[in-house]
Amino acid sequence: MRQEVDQVFCSPKPFVKWAGGKRQLIPILNSNLPKTMGTYYEPFLGGGALLFHIVKEREGQKCKVSDLNSDLVLSYTTIRDQTDSLIESLKNHARNYQKSSKSYYYTIRENNPKDAVEKTSRLIFLNRTCFNGLYRVNSKGKFNVPLGKYTNPNIVNEENIRSVSKALQSRKISIKCRDFEAVLDDVKKNDLVYFDPPYQPVSSTANFTSYTNKSFTNEDLKRLAKLCLELDSKDCKVMLSNSNSDEIKNMFKEKQWRIEKIEANRSINSNSKRRTGHSELLIKNY
Ligand SMILES: C[S@@+](CC[C@H](N)C(=O)[O-])C[C@H]1O[C@@H](n2cnc3c(N)ncnc32)[C@H](O)[C@@H]1O
Repeated sequence: MRQEVDQVFCSPKPFVKWAGGKRQLIPILNSNLPKTMGTYYEPFLGGGALLFHIVKEREGQKCKVSDLNSDLVLSYTTIRDQTDSLIESLKNHARNYQKSSKSYYYTIRENNPKDAVEKTSRLIFLNRTCFNGLYRVNSKGKFNVPLGKYTNPNIVNEENIRSVSKALQSRKISIKCRDFEAVLDDVKKNDLVYFDPPYQPVSSTANFTSYTNKSFTNEDLKRLAKLCLELDSKDCKVMLSNSNSDEIKNMFKEKQWRIEKIEANRSINSNSKRRTGHSELLIKNY
């Protein structure tokens, strides 16, 4: 019998730690999902916590997901299409990191490989070994997070990579690199669109995170609020996460929006004392 037939796959989970990742909020997001939906759209995919949950819980669900970070989107497609080479490349990183973690980390951080496998293994390697698993680039798009303190980071999570690869090979899942607004051209009545954009900072001490070389501006937030109204008028289901601020409440004050305050932990914050006790908003039109 061929080896793949025998292989038992674990449930796929995010393969990167991503600022704003929704893993801890899955139970509450899940309880807010509609019972039925057409296609599931997630235009700010990041680590894909809710996507992987939906893939596991709703077999055969059609999903169209996207993100503006081209390196991240490339990682999804490389895991899907070049699994074995990627695992080999990650094993190579793990071996070299063990020999000399600091100098190897900074050498790889300076590299700019062109090949998809090398680009993806670099992204995963840096994510596993950098400070706080943060993804942050400067205005030139260069990754600029320092080395983190780990005794034994899990650089090659082979089981999960294989399981993510298998899940993404489904013809029901498509992944694109694009701006969130492009979703409007695709959606139909009864589809669900879940938006988890970069949040507006709620205070001057809020953690700054830049996922791409273009920051998410106030203009982008206004575009998003307008898009939500357009989707609502097309009878799409819309669910949106954002920070608990008056500005956001004001943007969604029309009667179709239900706003719920939910308790969340910020796992990516340089100050561990600020990682707890934070609330955010979940906004829906259904
Ligand atoms: C808060 S994160 C999403 C986290 C995700 N829900 C998770 O569980 O990991 C926001 C994402 O939006 C992406 N992004 C930023 N600006 C964007 C834009 N204009 N269009 C689409 N995606 C964008 C970032 O690259 C980032 O991955």
